[in-house]
Amino acid sequence: MKIAIIGAGKLGSALGKAWAKAGHYIIFGVRSPGQGKTQPPLAEIGVGATSMAVPDAARASDIIVLATPWPAVADAIKAMGDLRGKVLIDCTNPLSLNGDGSLSLSLGSTTSGAEEIEKMAPGAQVVKAFNTYGWENFANSDYPNAASLKPVMFYCGDHDAAKATVQQLASDLNFEPVDTGGLGMSRSLEPLALLWIRLNVREGRNANFTWARLTR
Ligand SMILES: NC(=O)c1ccc[n+]([C@@H]2O[C@H](COP(=O)([O-])OP(=O)(O)OC[C@H]3O[C@@H](n4cnc5c(N)ncnc54)[C@H](OP(=O)(O)O)[C@@H]3O)[C@@H](O)[C@H]2O)c1
Repeated sequence: MKIAIIGAGKLGSALGKAWAKAGHYIIFGVRSPGQGKTQPPLAEIGVGATSMAVPDAARASDIIVLATPWPAVADAIKAMGDLRGKVLIDCTNPLSLNGDGSLSLSLGSTTSGAEEIEKMAPGAQVVKAFNTYGWENFANSDYPNAASLKPVMFYCGDHDAAKATVQQLASDLNFEPVDTGGLGMSRSLEPLALLWIRLNVREGRNANFTWARLTR
């Protein structure tokens, strides 16, 4: 697949490198193509990636991964232009910093970042995914001690074809994709990201853990 990743920071770079390894072509959509943060991933990926200005990257692909900080989301979506019919994979988390240094979700629990993004991008097929772990888990999603268990990738959205794309992209990174339902389930997946971050901090910044599913 040809995948445009908007934002080439910690998350965008890790996803881009991992998907390029799986055989996908990556277009980093950045504010200053050819400069700054996209240079390390481009050098590492080689011919499997390029960088373009945000509007060009969005035009060049039908699959767009949003990986900017939450406060930049509205600007990034505006810059992308018409997104009708595109698969828009929302990996962002609407985090805000509290006075005591802890994090919370800035939108409360009666909406979610993904639902707000859907309003900002009319006609886009929004899927929430790749938001519940740290970038380290996308850079390397092998867990040799987990026997046959795979790390779970929760996702949700209202468009089956878009969700099938995300399912494939999650499988390509060695995750077990788990469809959690419609886009409203983002109200559960975004707090799950906060739980992951809080456990991470509590456990001394060991990012090497993921959710897995046991069934019988
Ligand atoms: N880091 C993680 O482990 C992780 C895991 C899961 C989800 N997330 C979520 O993913 C998002 C990105 O996190 P991150 O840690 O990767 O952030 P980051 O390292 O700070 O990178 C953010 C990227 O977004 C770009 N950006 C900022 N404003 C933009 C705009 N208006 N238009 C286009 N690009 C813009 C920045 O570009 P410049 O270089 O031009 O500033 C930078 O490349 C956040 O919403 C976060 O909650 C992060």
